[in-house]
Amino acid sequence: PPLSEILNLHDFEAIARRVMPEKAWAYYSSAADDEITLRENHAAYHRIWFRPRILRDVTHVDFSTSILGHRTSMPIYITATALGKLGHPDGELNLTRAAAKHNIIQMIPTLASCAFDEIVDNAQPGQVQFLQLYVNKDRAITKRLVQHAELRGIKGLFITVDAPQLGRREKDMRMKFEAEDPAEVSKNDKQGEVDRSQGAARAISSFIDPGLQWSDLKWFKSITKNLIAVPLILKGVQCWEDALEAYDQGMAGVVLSNHGGRQLDFAKSGVEILIEVVEKLGEKRGLSFPNEKFQLFVDGGVRRATDVLKAVALGATAVGIGRPFLYAFSSYGQEGVDAALTILHDEFEMNMRLIGARTIKEVVRGMVDASNIHTH
Ligand code: FNR
Repeated sequence: PPLSEILNLHDFEAIARRVMPEKAWAYYSSAADDEITLRENHAAYHRIWFRPRILRDVTHVDFSTSILGHRTSMPIYITATALGKLGHPDGELNLTRAAAKHNIIQMIPTLASCAFDEIVDNAQPGQVQFLQLYVNKDRAITKRLVQHAELRGIKGLFITVDAPQLGRREKDMRMKFEAEDPAEVSKNDKQGEVDRSQGAARAISSFIDPGLQWSDLKWFKSITKNLIAVPLILKGVQCWEDALEAYDQGMAGVVLSNHGGRQLDFAKSGVEILIEVVEKLGEKRGLSFPNEKFQLFVDGGVRRATDVLKAVALGATAVGIGRPFLYAFSSYGQEGVDAALTILHDEFEMNMRLIGARTIKEVVRGMVDASNIHTH
């Protein structure tokens, strides 16, 4: 169907399922084990309701905000998803170009299909990009990547901490990942040897170090020259205790995420974890959120601006979105991603008016009722 018939982010998934190569669909859509967390990620938002405010002159609404000090047009970013070329020959560049057009931040995955430098080269002057980091057992490789990224102007380093081993994504495991796969991670960015017998995810991930621990974080600080320019964020924090530890260890923030349900099945949704993190870090460290010095991000299952507004009301600085953009470019290339961002933009405008918020600062805790969510 023509793009003009796409009305929301769910539509991209339905179309991608029909038009995408089977292998790409298996890799993008799959999640761990019985995919309970995958479904929960979106379902959790169904348990949070608005408490809108009225009569506030919402003629003009502005939902631009800043993430780690960088202005963006909406409180969202494009999160890291590996192997962009499985879905489209331009791979991650579809995201880079659409992000530039809409003033959105893109997080580049360690395991992009396009070369890291190609993705950075395709950004517009001043366009902000982050890097997602899988930490290699061979730290020299990781150090080279981090230092190169800093040199290339990357504005934030998101260390993935929820994947000491890749989860079982059975849909994907039934597919073989071929030697000459055009989607394969760029040669320059290769992280090590691969086992091709069990799907794309297994093939590309055997280099990841399961030995990574809290005491390693000091090392990351030591290899970046300028921590203001390249703040460290942990991606994949799943309880308040670890969020507190990240804060105490001087991280710039955390992403409350279960990797889109692709790692531990029965991990709770990020938005539910957000509630306990805000509560406990307030109690134990006197922090209030959103907070400039320690920023909370959420990802997983976000499909509507209303989902984002709920997370923002609960204290998130911004929210990451993954699969919808993959499905959008797999079906329509960059134009699909442009359309997805335009849809979100329109949804923000309307829903800001309907909840009675003129700016992101006015999207406050009192605007949501999360009493259906039980926190730990
Ligand atoms: C991911 N994600 C991910 N995360 C990461 O830290 N490194 C990676 O290489 C990838 N790769 C990846 C591939 C694919 C196909 C998906 C769907 C996801 C996880 C991603 O950053 C994010 O946590 C989730 O995708 C968010 O959930 P939604 O928006 O996809 O529901």
